[in-house]
Amino acid sequence: MSTGWNESEHEWWRKAVFYHIYPRSFHDSNGDGIGDLQGIIDRLDYLNDGTERSLGVDAIWLTPTYPSPMKDFGYDVSDYCNVHPDFGDLETLDRLIAACHERGIRLLLDYVPNHCSDRHPWFQDALRSRDATHRDWFYWRDPKPDGYLPNNWISVFGGPAWTFHDATGQYYLHSFLPEQPDLNWRNPKVVAAMHDVLRFWLARGVDGFRIDVMGMVLKHPDLRDNPPNPDYEIGMPEYTRLRADNSLNYPDVYSAVAGIRRVLDEYSEAVAVGEVFGPPSILAKYYGTLDSPGLQLNFNFQLIGPDSKPLPWDAERIGEIVRAFDELPAHAQPCYALNNHDRPRIVSRLNSDGFGGERARAACLLLLGLRSTPFIYYGEEIGMVEVSIPEDQLQDPARFHHRGRDPARTPMQWDANPGRGFTSGTPWLPFGPEGINVAAQSEDPGSMLSLYRRAIWTRKAEAALHSGDFRALPSDTGTFVFERRYPAASSVICALNTDLEEREVQLPDGGWSLLLSSHDGAAVQGGASLVLPPLAAAWVRQERQEGRGV
Ligand code: GLC
Repeated sequence: MSTGWNESEHEWWRKAVFYHIYPRSFHDSNGDGIGDLQGIIDRLDYLNDGTERSLGVDAIWLTPTYPSPMKDFGYDVSDYCNVHPDFGDLETLDRLIAACHERGIRLLLDYVPNHCSDRHPWFQDALRSRDATHRDWFYWRDPKPDGYLPNNWISVFGGPAWTFHDATGQYYLHSFLPEQPDLNWRNPKVVAAMHDVLRFWLARGVDGFRIDVMGMVLKHPDLRDNPPNPDYEIGMPEYTRLRADNSLNYPDVYSAVAGIRRVLDEYSEAVAVGEVFGPPSILAKYYGTLDSPGLQLNFNFQLIGPDSKPLPWDAERIGEIVRAFDELPAHAQPCYALNNHDRPRIVSRLNSDGFGGERARAACLLLLGLRSTPFIYYGEEIGMVEVSIPEDQLQDPARFHHRGRDPARTPMQWDANPGRGFTSGTPWLPFGPEGINVAAQSEDPGSMLSLYRRAIWTRKAEAALHSGDFRALPSDTGTFVFERRYPAASSVICALNTDLEEREVQLPDGGWSLLLSSHDGAAVQGGASLVLPPLAAAWVRQERQEGRGV
């Protein structure tokens, strides 16, 4: 499909490669075992120093760094306009913004509109009485006549989504922990206050936001019961027992999305990426229309797969996902990620036969080859794995995955020293295997880090890769092949082999040469066929030949 967009500075995010930092785990500058903002400043050259020795990312997103009791590690915000002392202070954040901008890196914060912390002054006030000023900033409901819960909703972290407050005799709604009361976005005062939060940070110079659970912000006006989920199976997370028809992607939510976009548009280059869940038809709605735009980017998590069943590494399945998304209107820029702070890391996720690392290498070329704004999760570029954490050291309150989300949140491994170059103290979570680290991989041309660096810089240099059209090409079972074309420049074909056998891919017209491959042994033969070793991916390039058919 043609991209049909206006290639301007204003839409810088279309070409950008994003890097997702979990600040607690990136770099600890003060020895308390917890990563901080100064630590990120200290490591910016690793991310992009303008040369191909660095990773070359264009933008970073930080998970929440606001004051918080840390019940859900920052997603329980007690002050939207400040910085948690574990991470630094506002002045450090200002310096981080400036240091990023000096290097041409854009900075996104995490915006958490659906809920705040129960320690937030708004909720503390709401607890005082039924008449409190901020009472209706939250969802309060009487018990049903039988004394039971106001509706059947289940918290994402398990258990009822309602907690009873004895002193005022009502339940309040929390889609996550009881310590994370949901904000009532049907109250215009909440909307105004939350819009001002965006303005506070945009005025300070941040370039935009990742928006937490965007699709939950407006629910059914009567908070109706959710219907049972006929696809639920034992072993799936408890909250999936119900279909979230009345609590997620409720149609009213798109008006809240449009309102957020209008605030972003007060600042010319600000961008937002929504954490949204659903099939392409739902994701499309979060982009809005050209007349009433929504968020510029919305995550498509389908390459990771649903909570209970990670996507099998299968070319046909991957092809279906990508093709389905490519059917969306041209302004709906796809946005893929292979990892994030909520899901098991790819190397471990695809490792049932011990080949997770091989698949992750190919996945790098898939991610960076797609027509998409790609997001890389810290440590993905060195192949960090799920770390087995003793029960008594687990910190995450959400246990809907086997050991919660901590195994994917362990500290970045900069080197093989006892503190892994992350801390001089005791890390807040245990480290992964010491062999997986930046120092060991930096000078090794065969390392995962070298592959990511080359892929990112190659993408930057190739208009076909960062701005080209997408066209799926027919290919044999076990392979997914697509072309990226940029008029009057070059074409790049990205070919993925998810089989354990070597595969040969026929290339249209000839004149192709190998640009980059995930595995040794990939080769172009006679400019017209590509040999892909088992589980490999490759990019091949062709100078644009005028007149080649569509
Ligand atoms: C999002 C975040 C997750 C958090 C939850 C509640 O899904 O990614 O980490 O626990 O929202 O804010």
